[in-house]
Amino acid sequence: MRILVTGGAGFIGSHTCVELLENGYDVTVIDNLYNSSAKAIDRVREISGKDLTFVKGDILDRECLDTIFESQKIDAVIHFAGLKAVGESVHKPVEYYSNNITGTLTLVKSMAAHGVKNIIFSSSATVYGEPAFNPITEECPKGVCTNPYGWTKWMLEQILSDLHTADAEWNVILLRYFNPIGAHPTGLIGEDPKGIPNNLVPYIAQVAIGKLEKLGVFGDDYDTPDGTCIRDYIHVVDLARGHVNAIRKLADKEGVSVYNLGTGHGYSVLEVVEAFGEACGHPVPYEIKPRRAGDVMELYCDPKKAAEELGWTAQYGIKDMCRDSWNWQSKNPNGYRD
Ligand code: NAD
Ligand code: UFG
Repeated sequence: MRILVTGGAGFIGSHTCVELLENGYDVTVIDNLYNSSAKAIDRVREISGKDLTFVKGDILDRECLDTIFESQKIDAVIHFAGLKAVGESVHKPVEYYSNNITGTLTLVKSMAAHGVKNIIFSSSATVYGEPAFNPITEECPKGVCTNPYGWTKWMLEQILSDLHTADAEWNVILLRYFNPIGAHPTGLIGEDPKGIPNNLVPYIAQVAIGKLEKLGVFGDDYDTPDGTCIRDYIHVVDLARGHVNAIRKLADKEGVSVYNLGTGHGYSVLEVVEAFGEACGHPVPYEIKPRRAGDVMELYCDPKKAAEELGWTAQYGIKDMCRDSWNWQSKNPNGYRD
C-alpha cells in the first residue's frame, strides 16, 4: 500500500514517514521545502533503513500532482502540507487562505481525477476556539477561531466533509492535533523553526542551548493553578503513530470521522519549563510577560474515541517529550543547517 504524504519533510510529516516505513507502507512525499529541509528526508531513510520517493513540488501545482498519481498507484493521502504560523497568518491572510485552501482544493481535484478518495487531514484543536468544555471530546462544538490559520483548518474540515456528502466513495479522517512537541529518540529528526520560534517548547529549547536569553511566559494571571495556560502536549512520535492507525481505519470506509489526538493530560507553561529544566540539567530562565492575544486559557482532550476506534493511545509523557526535544536540540543546535 502506497501513501502520498504532502508536507512529509516537515516536523510531523517526517516522523510519520518513519512510522509508515517501519510498518511496511510505501511512501511518496511531496513537499516544496518552504518550511523544511531535504535533509529530513535523508534522515528518515537513515532511521528506517528504507527508501521513499521524494518529489520537491508544490500542492498548488496540479500538473506535478497529476504526474505523481499517474506514475504511482497511490492508495491514500496524508495531508500535512500547509502554512502554520498563527501570528504570521494574521498579517498574511491571503497567503494562508491561498496556500492552505487552494492547495487542498488542487490536491483533492487531482485525487478525484485519479480515483484516489482516501484522505487523512491534519486539523487542530484550534477549531474548538475557546472550548465549550474540558476535557474536549469530538462532540464539543467547533468555535470561533482567532486567526486566519485557524479558519483554514475550520474551513478545510467542512470542505472535506462536503466532499463525502457529494460522493460517498470519499473516506475522510480529520485528526485534531493538540500540542505536538518532542522529537525522534534518535535525535536525527525534530522541529526546526525558521527564525525566532513562536511555540513554547522550541523557544525553551533555544534558551536552554544558549541561543536565546530567556523565555517570556505569556501571562500568569489566568484562572489556573499557577496562573499560566494549560495545554495537552503530545510526543510527535505518538502523534505520528496515530496516523498509521488512521490509515488502517480507512479500510472500514466510514465516510467522515474526526479524532482528537492528545494525551488527555494538561500541563501549564510553568510545568513545561520545569520539566525541560530537569531534562537539560539546568533551570530555564524566564520572565512573566503580558498575555498573548488570542491565547485560550485551557485546552486538553478526551482521547477516548481514538483509543476505542483507532486502537491508539499516547505512550509518552511530558518527561519523555522534554528529553527528546533536548536531545534533538543539543545534537542539532542549528537544526538541519548543521
Ligand atoms: P511543518 O511546517 O514542519 O510542515 C509542513 C510542511 O508542508 C513543510 O515541510 C512545508 O515545506 C510544506 N508545505 C507548505 N506548503 C506547501 C505547499 N504548498 N506545497 C508543498 N509543501 C508545502 O509543520 P508541522 O508542524 O509538521 O505541521 C504539519 C501539519 O499539521 C500542518 O498542516 C499544520 O497546520 C498541522 N498542525 C500542526 C500543529 C503543530 O503544533 N505543529 C498543530 C496542529 C496542526
Ligand atoms: N507560550 C509562552 N511563551 C512563548 C510561547 C508560548 O508563554 O514564548 C505559551 C502560550 O501563551 C501558550 C502555551 O505556551 O499558553 C503554548 O503555546 P504554543 O504557541 O506552543 O501553542 P498554542 O497552544 O498556542 O498553539 C499550538 C499550535 C497551533 C495549534 C494549537 C493546537 O501553534 O498551530 O497548538 O492546540 F493549532
